[in-house]
Amino acid sequence: MTCSILVGGAWGDEGKGKCITYLCDNDKPDIIARAGVGPNAGHSVEFNGEKYGLRLTPSGFVHTDAKLMIGAGVLVNPDVLFNEFENLKKYNVKERMCVDPRCAIINEDHMSRDKSSEHLAKKIGSTGSGCGPANSDRVLRTIELAKDVPELEEYITDVSLACNEAIDNGEDVFIEGSQGFALSLYYGSYPFVTSKDTTASTFAADVGVGPTKVDEVIDVFKAYISRVGEGPFPTEMTQEEAESKGLEEYGVVTGRRRRIGYFDMELAKESCRINGATQIALTCVDKLFDCARVQNYDDLSAETKAFIEDIQTETGVPVTIISTGPDLKDTIDLRKELL
Ligand code: GTP
Ligand code: IMP
Ligand code: MG
Repeated sequence: MTCSILVGGAWGDEGKGKCITYLCDNDKPDIIARAGVGPNAGHSVEFNGEKYGLRLTPSGFVHTDAKLMIGAGVLVNPDVLFNEFENLKKYNVKERMCVDPRCAIINEDHMSRDKSSEHLAKKIGSTGSGCGPANSDRVLRTIELAKDVPELEEYITDVSLACNEAIDNGEDVFIEGSQGFALSLYYGSYPFVTSKDTTASTFAADVGVGPTKVDEVIDVFKAYISRVGEGPFPTEMTQEEAESKGLEEYGVVTGRRRRIGYFDMELAKESCRINGATQIALTCVDKLFDCARVQNYDDLSAETKAFIEDIQTETGVPVTIISTGPDLKDTIDLRKELL
């Protein structure tokens, strides 16, 4: 029995989509449960030569024997979810999806308030997905819940009960966080943050699993850092520098150009500490060093190994997964050696 939580180490877009897909395809958990804020997330998955951009469906959907769940803490936009059912038809996502009755529902009003708010859209640079206004209504206790939406009736399942029963029966549960540590309402660069805490403890609460049941916390970092939206970014580089290094990126949800910076060790240390990380997954190492598609640690250059070992030493957390490309095969998995 293993209950794992995967979290974003920085400002989101660390490559969680690829890591989750690799881990679920490899480890075949019985339940894959989505935690985090809601459809403000955009996870990229490349599987069997096809690309998917996901906002609510767990990125582990490629493991077709798993039940897919959305925990009570996550905001649901039914239109986004139904659209993903359509796009992911061949993976039977609709048939496997369970939505907790206590999920709060995003409506048109939340989206238009998000997009038309000078504060949210301009100052903070929100995604416009309605998450901020929806979480605000949730706190005011005026929001509609999934149990009261007729179109969701067939998916309604007590996700917390299902996850805890699975853990008690010796099954594996994989909890997918979204966003990233530095976007946390509590620990991020307030006010330039999202509308909820985004650390491992909250992700456990999102699906209704208590802290004593969690075995592994996998903190995902990119070999460099990206940030969309406004707010401080201590290791930011200029656009020209990012372009010259081939590190240009655009957002999955909003299409906005991402700001790019160097790996931030102080942020990594804090992220590992507050998340209680037991493992680090490091992605896009091939974009910083010449190691595209390398699958063996020994084949990495001395410079690349030094970069990885420095992260390990400074954070005190083993770097168990090293991603060297978008495909699942482009992964160095050191879990057998290091854990
Ligand atoms: P999360 O929001 O953290 O889930 O990240 P994401 O999956 O949304 O990442 P993003 O939208 O930034 O997409 C990253 C892109 O890089 C996707 O097209 C991935 O397939 C790809 N990718 C992921 N890992 C690697 C890697 O190790 N190397 C390279 N070259 N590309 C990667
Ligand atoms: P909101 O979550 O839409 O309110 O946006 C608040 C801030 O969080 C903005 O800077 C967004 O760009 C950022 N943000 C929210 N979700 C994500 C994500 O999944 N990846 C990257 N940035 C995000
Ligand atoms: Mg993303």
